[in-house]
Amino acid sequence: MADQNTAKDRVLIFDTTLRDGEQCPGATMTLGEKLEVAELLDTMGVDIIEAGFPIASIGDFEAVSKIASLVKNATVAGLSRAAHKDIDRAAEAVRHAARPRIHTFLSTSPVHMKFKLQLEPEAVLEHVISSVTRARNHVDDVEWSAEDGTRTEFDFLCRCVEAAIKAGATTINIPDTVGYTTPEEYRDLFVKVRENVPNSDKAVFSVHCHNDLGMAVANSLAGVAGGARQIECTINGIGERAGNAALEEIVMAIRTRNDAFPYETGIVTEMLTKASKAVAHATSFPVQYNKAIVGRNAFAHESGIHQDGMLKHTQTYEIMTPESVGVSKTSLVLGKHSGRAALKNKLEEMGYELSDNQFQDVFVRFKALTDRKKTIYDEDLEALVDEKLAEA
Ligand code: KIV
Ligand code: ZN
Repeated sequence: MADQNTAKDRVLIFDTTLRDGEQCPGATMTLGEKLEVAELLDTMGVDIIEAGFPIASIGDFEAVSKIASLVKNATVAGLSRAAHKDIDRAAEAVRHAARPRIHTFLSTSPVHMKFKLQLEPEAVLEHVISSVTRARNHVDDVEWSAEDGTRTEFDFLCRCVEAAIKAGATTINIPDTVGYTTPEEYRDLFVKVRENVPNSDKAVFSVHCHNDLGMAVANSLAGVAGGARQIECTINGIGERAGNAALEEIVMAIRTRNDAFPYETGIVTEMLTKASKAVAHATSFPVQYNKAIVGRNAFAHESGIHQDGMLKHTQTYEIMTPESVGVSKTSLVLGKHSGRAALKNKLEEMGYELSDNQFQDVFVRFKALTDRKKTIYDEDLEALVDEKLAEA
């Protein structure tokens, strides 16, 4: 039974890079790449790895089975729709996991029930019960998701959640499938569902947010404030359409603003950059330069004012250390906005000792160069200094 009120609550990190992440157009990974990512996620301390959707293809089934055998610490989940053949296939795929989970889902919103499922609410409710019961016949750890949960009519959502718990679901996920909710709304939804559903304390509640309005991370953390204790997310935020909540952002928000988010995760944050690079490489999806936490510019400073501040004290412009996410050091990028302090620091790092006059001259030439050239490499600086020294 899940206790959602223990001291410094542990929030479970459920990574779905290999399932929801892989579902985004163009992000397909080979079996080898999936195994590599799964091993990394396991070592990094992810609690649950959603390895794939076994009924989707033979390749997906094989990947989930291999990951289930490979992973040592994390729970390995396989996704399934509510159909019994899906559930049985997922059960077979996770069979060799040390900690197997079946994650079964069904849409509950009016628009999905009417147009996608073409089922009446009562029929949906029956499917919830029969799918969770079927999954529980295979494994003890069953997650049930109310797809499009945030656009579901509240009383019906509560009835479905109650039925899923009664049928044996140990985790209840209320996804924001289309990235529609807001932080306040999502937090309140968890508070109210947990208040209204009998025996809600028998299940761990989970958030699963998409980023259509750019609020996936904020919504996820709000859901946790409302009592959820599992966060579903992906490395680099990859996923359907605008993506899922980014694991690295959630974990570092909890670590950096633990006053506001007083929880703990089991993630070794120093591995975040490595995981980001591995997923970017496997999916061929580049990470945007200004991406929070893992983007190339996340710990880079170009403006003279910022570089000067950073040289005086790193907390002037950084709220977390680069080392805490596995980046060796802050980079003071030399460009047209850089000032004397950064150039001096860089030249000293490169081993140059210049008199004040020499430095002043090199600085003027450096500024002129930055107007002509976007990227200033060490070789450019060497040429400037050598030119100056040759004049002496
Ligand atoms: O976004 C969603 O609703 C999903 C479910 C399958 C959990 O990915
Ligand atoms: Zn999703």
